[in-house]
Amino acid sequence: MCTVLQANGLCKTYIVNKRQNNVLKNIDLTVEEGEMVAVMGPSGSGKSTLLYCVSGMDRVTAGNVVFNGKETAKLRDKELARLRLDEMGFIFQQMYMMKNLSVLDNIILPAVKSKKNKESRRQTEERGRALMRRLGIADVGGNDINEVSGGQLQRACICRSMINSPKMIFADEPTGALNRSSSDEVMKELLSLNNDGTTVMCVTHDPKVAAKCSRVLYLVDGGIVGEKDMGHFGGGDKELRDRERELNNWLMEQGW
Ligand SMILES: Nc1ncnc2c1ncn2[C@@H]1O[C@H](COP(=O)(O)OP(=O)(O)OP(=O)(O)O)[C@@H](O)[C@H]1O
Ligand SMILES: [Mg+2]
Repeated sequence: MCTVLQANGLCKTYIVNKRQNNVLKNIDLTVEEGEMVAVMGPSGSGKSTLLYCVSGMDRVTAGNVVFNGKETAKLRDKELARLRLDEMGFIFQQMYMMKNLSVLDNIILPAVKSKKNKESRRQTEERGRALMRRLGIADVGGNDINEVSGGQLQRACICRSMINSPKMIFADEPTGALNRSSSDEVMKELLSLNNDGTTVMCVTHDPKVAAKCSRVLYLVDGGIVGEKDMGHFGGGDKELRDRERELNNWLMEQGW
């Protein structure tokens, strides 16, 4: 197996009003290609910060992160931005979409900006439309982003995260704002991407979401205190119920 992401001794400290907040404390983490890793833990435990630090959205205070063979702390801002654009996909709860662009234009923006992409605008648009068809939102491509539902917008975010065929997708509460059926649909897409080989790291509060992941990390007060290897989810209601039960028992042991 091939390691996509490795963090060693990762620390992140924020200083607010001259007070030091050690949010991540000496985290070691390895993610292999093809894994689907869930990050769980109480509110404020540092889950989002971990996601930002390992994906190069934020600089670490100490320790190192190697993504796809590159040590991110050694990269200049521009190089890091290019790495994020070309090799990572992002799905965040506060869906950072450009307000003055249509849904389709938002989806293809990372491809338009990528120097790696040699397609014509038309070819890129066609790929964007194909992704939208796959996620069942083909009819809202021309809409403004405030003219679609929350579930549709979240699916548009997934399309955007996929447009540059990233090595790894980072998702922070991708289903947090959704009802159960939209959440299930979003998870179905993430699982299908994962089955196609994309590595996924997903912060979630929802055990039903985490039960579909291959590994669950439990974060408390900036440290990984528990880790559960679940194996890949093969699909099917019975398997899912069994996994949910097993995960819920484990989460209770963690103090969830
Ligand atoms: N940009 C920032 N500046 C200063 N402090 C921050 C910043 N981002 C997060 N923090 C602090 O870091 C800690 C961890 O925050 P983080 O958002 O990573 O938690 P979380 O586990 O994702 O919580 P939640 O489940 O509520 O989303 C909190 O104490 C928070 O106040
Ligand atoms: Mg968070």
